[in-house]
Amino acid sequence: MARVLTGIQSTGIPHLGNILGAIKPAINLANEGANEAFLFIADFHSLTTIKDAEERKNNVRAVAAAWLAFGLDTDKNTFYRQSDIIEVAELTWYLNCFTPFPMLANAHSFKDKSDRLSDVNAGLFTYPVLMASDILLYDAEIVPVGKDQLQHLEMTRDIARSVNHTYGETLVVPESKVQESTMYIPGIDGQKMSKSYGNFIDIFLSDKKLRKNVMKIVTDSKGLEEPKDPDTCNIFNIYKTMANSDQIRSMREKYQAGGYGYGHAKQELYELIVDQFGEEREAYNSLMDNPSKIEEELEKGAEKAKFVAKGVVERVREMLGY
Ligand code: ADP
Ligand code: TRP
Repeated sequence: MARVLTGIQSTGIPHLGNILGAIKPAINLANEGANEAFLFIADFHSLTTIKDAEERKNNVRAVAAAWLAFGLDTDKNTFYRQSDIIEVAELTWYLNCFTPFPMLANAHSFKDKSDRLSDVNAGLFTYPVLMASDILLYDAEIVPVGKDQLQHLEMTRDIARSVNHTYGETLVVPESKVQESTMYIPGIDGQKMSKSYGNFIDIFLSDKKLRKNVMKIVTDSKGLEEPKDPDTCNIFNIYKTMANSDQIRSMREKYQAGGYGYGHAKQELYELIVDQFGEEREAYNSLMDNPSKIEEELEKGAEKAKFVAKGVVERVREMLGY
């Protein structure tokens, strides 16, 4: 049984794209796979960009509630909050001293972020070392990541090898597993749905607000009576990522026949979301109303994670002469 580990960003409430593209497939794998999954909410990482304490707490809760609402099995897996395992900060310091400065200076994600953001802090620069620590602290063997994170994984492997080279086998060198997102969910403006574009659908909103959110999908100005091309329409393109083949065929025919307006299509999409995610929306909102239940789950995960982390840090300390 291999130990699979991955970090979940906590920079916002998970949207429809995150849910269909990342959360649901990851939960299926974690619940059904033979492997043991370590999944954590990367709330230390979020400090590089989010400075507001309430915002951070709320994001962590929202992310945890979403994963729990979608049925992550927290008995089989270890689901925890990064900041609950303070050993990660200690290990980060050690790893910093094995990380060549130019390696960080050449990181694509740092270059990209330092061009875009006004707050270019040292945390942003050393982010890959904290990420290496996240992974090495748990002797992770397999790390599923998106393509954009591959360079960080390479750095993790380099750092681990550098420690092992000096002290003998101390750290497990992890393998990355590239996750080609099989899903591409367009946003309400037709670009990729993303927090950063503000074009997402938040399925956890109340019915009324969710409907309003769906009604904001951008369309052309064809009148009700005109036949329409489903394939160039944002509503249809979102609808077809969730609907079954009969539903897709039926909506396609209505578009082509005319007498079917964008308002009708939006209403159908809204109803599909409510229908499909009824249970999860209810579970999410009940958890958000009851944060102590979320805490309980995260504490259970922290206990399991801490047990592993302590052992690894002990091993590293000894090697380093502390
Ligand atoms: P965002 O673009 O909203 O900031 P992230 O980059 O934090 O989202 O992505 C978190 C996870 O959700 C990643 O695994 C990513 O592949 C997945 N994801 C994000 N947006 C979409 C989308 N529009 N379609 C499919 N998957 C997505
Ligand atoms: N940096 C990752 C991202 O932006 C999140 C992350 C933090 C992570 N620590 C990790 C992913 C450790 C895998 C393993 O998506």
